[in-house]
Amino acid sequence: MGPAPDFRNERRTIELNVSAAGHQPGIVASETALAWAGEEDTIAFAHKLAARPAIREAFIELRGDLGAGKTTFVRHLLRALGVAGRIKSPTYAVVEPHEAPGLSIWHFDFYRFSDPREWEDAGFRDVFASHGLKIAEWPDKATGLLPVPDLVIAIEALPDETRAVRLTARTARGQELIAP
Ligand SMILES: Nc1ncnc2c1ncn2[C@@H]1O[C@H](COP(=O)(O)OP(=O)(O)OP(=O)(O)O)[C@@H](O)[C@H]1O
Ligand SMILES: [Mg+2]
Repeated sequence: MGPAPDFRNERRTIELNVSAAGHQPGIVASETALAWAGEEDTIAFAHKLAARPAIREAFIELRGDLGAGKTTFVRHLLRALGVAGRIKSPTYAVVEPHEAPGLSIWHFDFYRFSDPREWEDAGFRDVFASHGLKIAEWPDKATGLLPVPDLVIAIEALPDETRAVRLTARTARGQELIAP
């Protein structure tokens, strides 16, 4: 068997058939594969993303199994954006709001989200209509309610603790976020 695949620096651009999904035809979605060897790589990526102006209005989906490292990444991103104090995980509250200097942030975890009425009742529609950064773990539990994400970050924990990460930009803003 050869060496483990190195996801680092592998970049490819794919043309998605987005017209079938009801979006504008001709939109190019970028897909980038990376590897985080440890949490310091996660931190470095969080800082890179935090430095992009496009982050201020972005909607980011985080995909991956239980324990993949989604919340860990969000915590590092929030810290990199200047959120101070303890960063609670939103699992029981569905959403945890945060304030960074000049920036509102909503961290959703839809793992226990089951009643679509909560979407209206809890004011999530208004959140997505507001300025600021929205991040969602377990977005598939709120399918049909969430808008198209700018960026999808899919994280997979490999047996050696490396995180295989796939970035998919689905909008122009998402492209800006992950441009080299
Ligand atoms: N880049 C990383 N390198 C090594 N370990 C990591 C990394 N990211 C996260 N971990 C570890 O993985 C564990 C689970 O992480 P985390 O809670 O972020 O997962 P999650 O994807 O949010 O899970 P859930 O679906 O339950 O919310 C933690 O113990 C964390 O320290
Ligand atoms: Mg989590």
